[in-house]
Amino acid sequence: MKVLATRHFPGPAFDDLEDVEILPLGELSVPRPDVEALLVGNEPVDDALLDLLPSLQLVSNFAVGYDRIDVEACARRGVAVTNTPGVLDAATADLAFALLLATQRHVVEGDRQVRAGAWVGGWADAVLATEFTGSTLGIVGLGRIGTAVARRARGFELRLLYTRRTRLPEAEERALGVEYRPLDDLLAESDTVTLHVPRTPETGGLVDARRLALIRDGGCLVNTARGDVVDEQALVRELVSGRIRAGLDVFVHEPRVPPELLGLPNVVLTPHLGSATEAARHGMTRLAVDNILAVAAGRPPLTPVA
Ligand code: GLV
Repeated sequence: MKVLATRHFPGPAFDDLEDVEILPLGELSVPRPDVEALLVGNEPVDDALLDLLPSLQLVSNFAVGYDRIDVEACARRGVAVTNTPGVLDAATADLAFALLLATQRHVVEGDRQVRAGAWVGGWADAVLATEFTGSTLGIVGLGRIGTAVARRARGFELRLLYTRRTRLPEAEERALGVEYRPLDDLLAESDTVTLHVPRTPETGGLVDARRLALIRDGGCLVNTARGDVVDEQALVRELVSGRIRAGLDVFVHEPRVPPELLGLPNVVLTPHLGSATEAARHGMTRLAVDNILAVAAGRPPLTPVA
């Protein structure tokens, strides 16, 4: 099967592709009737691109989120779409905790202070943080990654609130130690909030200006999901005012980060590192390649998105 990949994806599984050409989508301008599978990292796949690939059978997405792939346009042409669920849950949940702790415990601010030679006085003079252990964490979206966050929360003795499209059965809530709240109530009751919803038409702008205002003074929002699940401009205003804190791994126009955030002490910024561990990224390549190999062998794809 002739595969077009937008880059060399990490890990040994990539070498299992026998006939692969690396070409960033921006450089694809003439029809390519030879291409049967496209391997992308959630780059935009739309009608105009599909027009250039009349023999395409599969878009294999190296990502769990497929918000930039026009799944309906693919379906109209009989092109399957697959993603990489499951293999990045631990890595993403770990990063959510890294951001929660870094933000709440002033880790990056402290690091900057030390490097700038601005650590004067004794340790007892530090600006005091709010204790994270024993606080209330709101998990927005309790799917695979949200559940991995809930499991990690036990050691921090957190009280866990969650919201989800469909509420879990009571026995599952008890087993995970989570209490259901509608989103507005969750935002108002939590000390920290972490987002784990996929970007769908329903979740675009989910945390808008009104909802941001519900977050407690001194509260913290962590986003490892997608930038536009939050109204980014409204978030910038809240952060500039200093009322809340945030740990942000995702942005609306990556790799562009709103410049107003760069000098703020109350926000920790990372460059979309959620799944950036060797195990997760190699696992994503394995699954993305296995989806291609399955279709090439005439079998159904392993992880179709619908
Ligand atoms: C990364 O953002 C992913 O969706 O896997």
